[in-house]
Amino acid sequence: MITEEDIKEGLATKFLGHKVYCFEEVSSTNDFALRLARDGAPEGTLVLARSQSGGRGRLGREWCSPPGGLWASVILRPIITPAQAPQLTLLTGTAVARTINCITGLDALIKWPNDILVNGKKVGGILTEMATSPDGINYVVVGIGVNLDVDLNEFPWAFRDATASLNKEAGHQVSMVGFLHQMLKEIEALYLVLKEKGFEPILDEWRRLSATLGRRVKALGQDRIVKGQAVDVDSAGALIIRTGEGKIERVLAGDVTILR
Ligand code: BTN
Repeated sequence: MITEEDIKEGLATKFLGHKVYCFEEVSSTNDFALRLARDGAPEGTLVLARSQSGGRGRLGREWCSPPGGLWASVILRPIITPAQAPQLTLLTGTAVARTINCITGLDALIKWPNDILVNGKKVGGILTEMATSPDGINYVVVGIGVNLDVDLNEFPWAFRDATASLNKEAGHQVSMVGFLHQMLKEIEALYLVLKEKGFEPILDEWRRLSATLGRRVKALGQDRIVKGQAVDVDSAGALIIRTGEGKIERVLAGDVTILR
């Protein structure tokens, strides 16, 4: 299990991960981080667990979190509107894909909005949650799950074929601490770009790493299905789809299947 000392040694960030909570097991690192943030924990606080008993994914799904995976949450306090919060999901997805590329040499891609794919299979995901007030965002917790070295037999049958373990894809052992250090560096670097230059440079990088844009997709939105060509993502993180009839549709949240 990774300790606070392991993380502090060799960590090359300005603020991200300077305050760390490491657990053998928690229900969800996001839940713990949300409580810390509510109680005033500083921006950059990191929560890490060897396993989660109640790991959560997007859209209320369960997130299988056995030992061997990287289950982490970071607290951010950005000055943005709630509508801009999906930017942090895209930013973190970009940072995770860059980390995988850098550490393993594999081409990690992002399926909108937040699935990290390697060789077409899901190796990680991002869950962004926040607390708002009439003045805007109080805090955001970005949860990151990466199947670094997990036993896929622990995953439900239905997901096994579409899920990957990074070590297996890379063909070698990836150091958890090394991965975490690089990932925190990438997230912080992009977060500082967001603060200084806005979202456009992040979005450009996301587009470059996208497995979705330019493909024929079926998007399951909140109350509708949209089929067509994925043409772009906008500054609110919405997926823009051109349908067969030439209509432009905007999908803000949902699931996407890439069609052949
Ligand atoms: C998804 O793809 O649906 C998002 C998965 C996010 C999983 C991570 S693991 C660490 C953090 N704690 C949670 O309960 N969920 C996120």
